[in-house]
Amino acid sequence: MEFKGKVIVVTGGAKGIGRSCVEIFAARGGQVVFSDIDEASGAALADRLGNDVAFLSGDVRRLADMEAMARLAETRFGGLDIIVNNAAVALNGVIDEIDEERWTTVIDTNLTGFWRTMKACVPLLRRRGGGAVVNLSSVQGLIGFQGWPAYAAAKGAIIALTRQCAIDLAKAGIRVNAVAPGTIMTPMNEKIFEETEDAQALIDSWNRAHPIGRFGQPMEVAELVAFLASDKASFITGEIVRCDGGLAIRGE
Ligand SMILES: NC(=O)c1ccc[n+]([C@@H]2O[C@H](COP(=O)([O-])OP(=O)(O)OC[C@H]3O[C@@H](n4cnc5c(N)ncnc54)[C@H](O)[C@@H]3O)[C@@H](O)[C@H]2O)c1
Repeated sequence: MEFKGKVIVVTGGAKGIGRSCVEIFAARGGQVVFSDIDEASGAALADRLGNDVAFLSGDVRRLADMEAMARLAETRFGGLDIIVNNAAVALNGVIDEIDEERWTTVIDTNLTGFWRTMKACVPLLRRRGGGAVVNLSSVQGLIGFQGWPAYAAAKGAIIALTRQCAIDLAKAGIRVNAVAPGTIMTPMNEKIFEETEDAQALIDSWNRAHPIGRFGQPMEVAELVAFLASDKASFITGEIVRCDGGLAIRGE
């Protein structure tokens, strides 16, 4: 019950890693507001988890939606302590092939979306006298892969944003950290496999790329998010923690 008395917002909480975050905070006594553009999955999850979990349909590409999420945390649960910036999209394309719409969608969602959420929600943390922010970056923000320049640029920017905000918000008692997952089995990757001709070969090669020999599960990332958000991490800020089965330490 380490999150008893804490209110948490999670963006993109209807599926994947975001959903595991919602589940873990709720299971440990927190009150959770989460948003997503997938209304059906979000409403079903909130129904399943009960009265301490509230869902609102919200797009991180719209500041007004993030403001509505912050208002809901305040009106329903009386304030806000923890922000989990999670919603993102995975669109690939080599630098001279990716079109402007695809590029802009990635940056608008995966980078500016995190700013919008913090713009709307950080004032509530200040009002509480402190809190924690956990940003979902990626190993793609740390090392290079073929064909993902927009996604990697956004994830690298999240690392810089995390450090910057950690300094700016430290005096307000707000810690800001990021997690950098390797490949995690979520709808984001299931979609990539569906669209790949030889999906099994891709799955095998991605499994092999992780020294641990397999993909991660969403709950393995959510456990780290929960730790960084909790009081157990009270002296950790501006940190980027990998959760990647060793993917980013390979030298070959
Ligand atoms: N899955 C991985 O391998 C992996 C690896 C590294 C980092 N990450 C990061 O972890 C986070 C979660 O990834 P995931 O794999 O669970 O993704 P996912 O696609 O499985 O789930 C993302 C959720 O966000 C929602 N969403 C998408 N666009 C949105 C928007 N504009 N506004 C609000 N909600 C929106 C989706 O509807 C979905 O419910 C992302 O930031 C992702 O970049 C994932």
